[in-house]
Amino acid sequence: MPRKASPKIVRRRPAHFRVDDEVELRVLTHAHAGTLFAITDRNRAYLRRWLPWVDATRTVRDTARFIRSGREQLRRNDGFQAGIWYRGELVGAIGYHYWNWAVRKTEIGYWLAEPFQGKGIATRAVRTLVDHAFRDLGMDRVEIRAAAGNARSYAIAERLGFTREGTLRGAEYSSKRAVDQVVYGLLRGEWKT
Ligand SMILES: CC(C)(COP(=O)(O)OP(=O)(O)OC[C@H]1O[C@@H](n2cnc3c(N)ncnc32)[C@H](O)[C@@H]1OP(=O)(O)O)[C@@H](O)C(=O)NCCC(=O)NCCS
Repeated sequence: MPRKASPKIVRRRPAHFRVDDEVELRVLTHAHAGTLFAITDRNRAYLRRWLPWVDATRTVRDTARFIRSGREQLRRNDGFQAGIWYRGELVGAIGYHYWNWAVRKTEIGYWLAEPFQGKGIATRAVRTLVDHAFRDLGMDRVEIRAAAGNARSYAIAERLGFTREGTLRGAEYSSKRAVDQVVYGLLRGEWKT
């Protein structure tokens, strides 16, 4: 018998998170597809280095499909995908890849448009979803997984107190080839807001 049963209802599952005066997260809807596709399209060269889905995102319909699958994820209580707004402008995305209720763990993924790097936007957004995972969803473990060499992504996990736990060999695709993946983990008792 698992220690905690899978909940029927998540205590608080907002569609919108106010991170601070500058940054806000909103669960993506179909209305965001055009803008999100335009950002992806403008940042292809930089994003494709680390994100395997970029080349397969050719038209706004592909972005709409991604948003739809995020909505379905939320309906089956398995995570969500949100946009990141900075001073009112959509600048990237963040989401939970899954919610594993049996083990109470989740994984967060994220990206920003290139000109918006270096302002702490992603760290602030990830902090908010880590906090939501522990406080509101009752998760016991949060993971961040980054392709080997993605130093900017490592830095986000490290800034937030995650432990680098190990490297999985050939575990993800980057620039059309399998690369190693570095796993960072944070446990509920280690989380300090
Ligand atoms: C990974 C990615 C989101 C990191 O972006 P980033 O801008 O480095 O991360 P942040 O937005 O948290 O900004 C951190 C920088 O802002 C600075 N900063 C300013 N204010 C800050 C604040 N309030 N909090 C934290 N950092 C702050 C930090 O010192 C850091 O500066 P540096 O770039 O000189 O090191 C971005 O590089 C990206 O989208 N890459 C492509 C996709 C990708 O790799 N996604 C992750 C897959 S695992």
